[in-house]
Amino acid sequence: MKKIINFAHRGASAVCPENTMASFIKSLDLGATGIETDVQMTKDGQLVLIHDEAINRTTHGQGWVKDMTLEEISAQDAGSWFGDSFKGERIPTLAELLELLRERDTILNIELKNGIFMYPGMEDKVVNLVREFGMAERVVFSSFNHYSLVYCKSIAPEIRTGILYMEGLYRPWDYAASVGADALHAIHFAVLPEFVAEAAEHGKDYHPFTVNDPDRMKALIEAGVSGIITDYPDQLAKLLANRGA
Ligand code: G3P
Ligand code: MG
Repeated sequence: MKKIINFAHRGASAVCPENTMASFIKSLDLGATGIETDVQMTKDGQLVLIHDEAINRTTHGQGWVKDMTLEEISAQDAGSWFGDSFKGERIPTLAELLELLRERDTILNIELKNGIFMYPGMEDKVVNLVREFGMAERVVFSSFNHYSLVYCKSIAPEIRTGILYMEGLYRPWDYAASVGADALHAIHFAVLPEFVAEAAEHGKDYHPFTVNDPDRMKALIEAGVSGIITDYPDQLAKLLANRGA
């Protein structure tokens, strides 16, 4: 039976503050076989894991990540907005997450958040770090910035890429081929069973996001997707175990 990757979206973000080490560790406990995370770059060129371009929503601080140094970013409390018991959780670096996963077989989906700020040089830094950790085979880059994915492929053909999109793209497998991408990271509404079959014929995997409804998970599993990105890796793990995946 086909293995389906259970990607924990920002870690176990339903029960932990998103994109923190607590969230990533918890997702592994809950049965995730993959982790999705978002990378942004600091003023001093460091790669940090936070969804928004600004720290306002997930810390008590304010400002753009691009205007702060790693030291300033690391001083922020990224846990207590979610719950008192998470007080003191930090905004992790990409290296910290790679270290956590180095000795495991978890797949890592690194979403490059370079759609609003371009973060010149970020792709090269991410590629170098992934290679340094020897994790190229277990990483999938994704981005809404498809120029960036083309660039990633040009400097690191061995690392898989997936196009992120929110629209009803026409024949997304053909478009993905034009970008040199391996996977379709589609909003899940844009995924129909016949699309999954045709994408597979063209060698493209579907990794829809963000799927939190168990009935929708089941339908996508039946359609034959290769992975599902969810805030509830425990629920997805249960469904996958029931089908014997
Ligand atoms: O990678 C899937 C999903 O994370 C894309 O949207 O905004 O949650 O990063 P967002
Ligand atoms: Mg994301």
